[in-house]
Amino acid sequence: MERILPHSELERARELIAGAERVVALTGAGISAESGVPTFRDAGGLWRNYRPEELATIGAFERDPRTVWEWYAWRRGFVAECEPNDGHRALARFFLRRGREGIVTQNVDGLHTRAALDAAGDGPPGAALPIEIHGAIARDRCNRCGQRAEAEPLGDSLPRCEACGGMRRPDVVLFGEMLDSDLLARAQSLAARADLCLVIGTSAVVHPAAGIPLATLQGGGGIVEVNTERTELTGAATVALRGEAGVVLPALLG
Ligand code: APR
Repeated sequence: MERILPHSELERARELIAGAERVVALTGAGISAESGVPTFRDAGGLWRNYRPEELATIGAFERDPRTVWEWYAWRRGFVAECEPNDGHRALARFFLRRGREGIVTQNVDGLHTRAALDAAGDGPPGAALPIEIHGAIARDRCNRCGQRAEAEPLGDSLPRCEACGGMRRPDVVLFGEMLDSDLLARAQSLAARADLCLVIGTSAVVHPAAGIPLATLQGGGGIVEVNTERTELTGAATVALRGEAGVVLPALLG
């Protein structure tokens, strides 16, 4: 019987997913926009109102740790009030069903992890837990010895490491810093072996994260992009779905 090609881009994307054995997802700030977490570069994004070089670079932290700490403490408090949205939830359920990890996120807001724990209930959330290649804002890390610790409210004196007395900082990758090489290698290996990379809510301009979907292409796989706007990657996408992640992902992965 002649195969009837899917009429809509969504149907085409659903067929690609159904036919893919290994799927990886790279997410960016856009997937958290509907949870109220500000993005960076699109309209209303943080980098439209703040200068990243003053707030999110290792140089800024070493020059003026109090200002950087106050900005991250504000962001931490803001994000703690946000909830995962239908996009996070659809992605978590999808990877739990497939039983194989595949979420790589640039986001530090922890919403993928919360969606994974919610979706798993009493079961293991493993396959839906994200690889957080830019770290997690809810954690601290010692700037000297690297020891991690749960975040505490910012007091009059800047937090110190209990192990070595070094300065603690948010456990996020600042501009000018290298990513955790193990996390990045895991993400790149998943992408290189994937048949399909879902690229969700990212402007795809910050490397090395932006290179992850290209690893899937180089390995012969395809890209499905979910974004409210065109991006640097749209031209390379097998299917580009224009819409909000919280609306598109439940329809795409449901
Ligand atoms: N649904 C889907 N996409 C959306 C939505 C939405 N509801 N809202 C916005 N977008 C898209 C925007 O069109 C944009 O392409 O999400 C993308 C957000 O891009 P950025 O603000 O650049 O965020 P991101 O790509 O995650 O930035 C990468 O840069 O500043 C660093 O470390 C920071 O991890 C961040 C990295």
